[in-house]
Amino acid sequence: MQEVARQPGFDKPSHYRSLLKQLEAVLDGLEDEVALMASAACVIHRAIDYASWTGFYRVVSPDLLRIGPYQGPLGCLEIPFGKGVCGSAAARREALVVPDVHAFPGHIACDSEARSEIVVPVLRKSGELFAILDIDSHSPAAFDDDDRTGLEAVAALLQRQL
Ligand code: SME
Repeated sequence: MQEVARQPGFDKPSHYRSLLKQLEAVLDGLEDEVALMASAACVIHRAIDYASWTGFYRVVSPDLLRIGPYQGPLGCLEIPFGKGVCGSAAARREALVVPDVHAFPGHIACDSEARSEIVVPVLRKSGELFAILDIDSHSPAAFDDDDRTGLEAVAALLQRQL
């Protein structure tokens, strides 16, 4: 298991500002929700070099998430609200940063090498919960408040088109 190594001068907030600009350009005018999620998952995954899995769990009924477009190894198909990291974020409608997935009660291990995780709710313009954006890392404590802020801005960008 590798700690996240950073080049001297690596600036996460500025990295997320660039990611946001890139996403704005790529997603501009996209109205199809699958195309939106697929393109966002691809761009985000390639921008975050410590991500091992990047994707969306969609709200398909009042208490159920189902896998959406993603990048990385096979993800589990369905997660009830309240279960695992994604289901907890969906039930609470708030972002969660999990530095050690083994210490999170009920964590769902889709990839046995995953060590840390961040999940961010994505809302529709109406305010209804649309999906959970989930990013895993093979590095422990890969995500921090800068990731949360950056990915919440990504979620807000997506919301404008949902
Ligand atoms: N670990 C997640 C499940 C989804 S995978 O990480 C792709 C969870 O506990 O909700």
